[in-house]
Amino acid sequence: MASFQSLPGFRDFYPEDFFRRQHIFRVWRQSATAFGFQEYDAPVLEPLELYTTKSGDEIEGQLFSFKDKGDREVSLRPEMTPTVCRMVGSRAGALKRPIKWFSIAEFYRYERAQKGRLRAFNQFNADIFGEAGPEAEIELIALLIQCLSGFGLAKDDFLIRLSDRDLWFFYLEALGFNDSQARGVLGAIDRYEKMGDGAFKAYTDVHGPLEDSRKQKILGFLQIKGLADLEAALAPFGSEKLAARLADWRRVLEGLAAMGLAEFVSVDLAVVRGLAYYTGFVFEAFDRKGDLRALAGGGRYNDLVKKLGGPDLPAVGFAIGDVTTGLLLEQRGLMPAFAAAPDVYVVIGGPAERRAALADIQALRAAGVRVEYPFKDSAFGKQFKAAAESGARLALIYGGDELARGAVKLRNLADRSERELPIAEVRAAVRASLVGP
Ligand code: HAM
Repeated sequence: MASFQSLPGFRDFYPEDFFRRQHIFRVWRQSATAFGFQEYDAPVLEPLELYTTKSGDEIEGQLFSFKDKGDREVSLRPEMTPTVCRMVGSRAGALKRPIKWFSIAEFYRYERAQKGRLRAFNQFNADIFGEAGPEAEIELIALLIQCLSGFGLAKDDFLIRLSDRDLWFFYLEALGFNDSQARGVLGAIDRYEKMGDGAFKAYTDVHGPLEDSRKQKILGFLQIKGLADLEAALAPFGSEKLAARLADWRRVLEGLAAMGLAEFVSVDLAVVRGLAYYTGFVFEAFDRKGDLRALAGGGRYNDLVKKLGGPDLPAVGFAIGDVTTGLLLEQRGLMPAFAAAPDVYVVIGGPAERRAALADIQALRAAGVRVEYPFKDSAFGKQFKAAAESGARLALIYGGDELARGAVKLRNLADRSERELPIAEVRAAVRASLVGP
């Protein structure tokens, strides 16, 4: 019979892998909770239409979609955003605002396998609904920074690049592009860092040639790397809408500076995001060395809840992936070592002593102490070796002579000190030893 392997891009999580994943999830969950976000979950399988109502996304070509036995067109979820919009949209009236929700879940995209990109991966999603002002961006960018610095990553390790699709649309409109052309240009800009000039091919295939003068203006705008440059580039237009937009920019940057987070964030108009639903600020997190694909991405999407049948509800959010985060933590030596050691290893003299040992083992475990013991009887020497190899801090020894006196031995495996104690005191003594002096 053929031996089976997992599908390309899907991972088995052996205990040491699962341990690493749990570490990542724990830091994310702690961060979100500290920021007052509430956790939710949702189905992995959704109606295909949820992902095809907004056309033009790269994601659409990567769906794991099929017809179910009831002839429904369905798809595994490639992202959480449409789902969370549906959920919030259908209860929007009853939810206290601002609505701050997070989730940790698995997603599926039929991507070409490459470093940092798989076909099944986990994301932490955090979104705020019902807040139109840039305070929502401040809150989310601060949370994103906490979700990375919670691992011990510092400002030399990662960077948030902040940009604005609203300004891009304004600028492209001023250059004479209509909405569909502007979306085509933003698609090209999204690919420009990776592909260079070839990024514009998809645009010219659809919309025809792009004159050099306009292209140079676009390439100039995407070089903008600071608020002062941005203000200078937009000054000639002198519109009220623009002035209000730049005021929002200053509020975001000042808010983050007040939190002491300014050094984590850079203004960078080269970020436009591949997903079509973003309407305003957009941001991505990268490792500073630039070795890895994006760690996280997000932005404002004020139209999506309504487009999916809900009320008009402003929204901002982001997602971090576990794959690039894990790679970065490994690179920086910040992934904790796999620790599966019990607190106590129980050494058992023989069948007669096992009964007394099992009673204490059960009581200790019920009290939350991690206890291991050998399933089969064997010589003391072999059991002590197993106790040492287990990494346990303590050994409890149930020997015939001691039990005859109503006692057991408690050994500290680090310094090998040992004492005898009445069997009735085992639980209290173990807990006291684990807590330490
Ligand atoms: P996204 O940029 O497509 O955004 O994904 C966010 C993050 O998920 C990426 O930066 C990356 O770390 C991870 N990721 C995406 N695709 C893969 C893959 N094939 N393999 C491994 N990791 C991957 C979104 O998904 C938006 N829905 C985020 C959002 C939430 N926007 C608003 N709210």
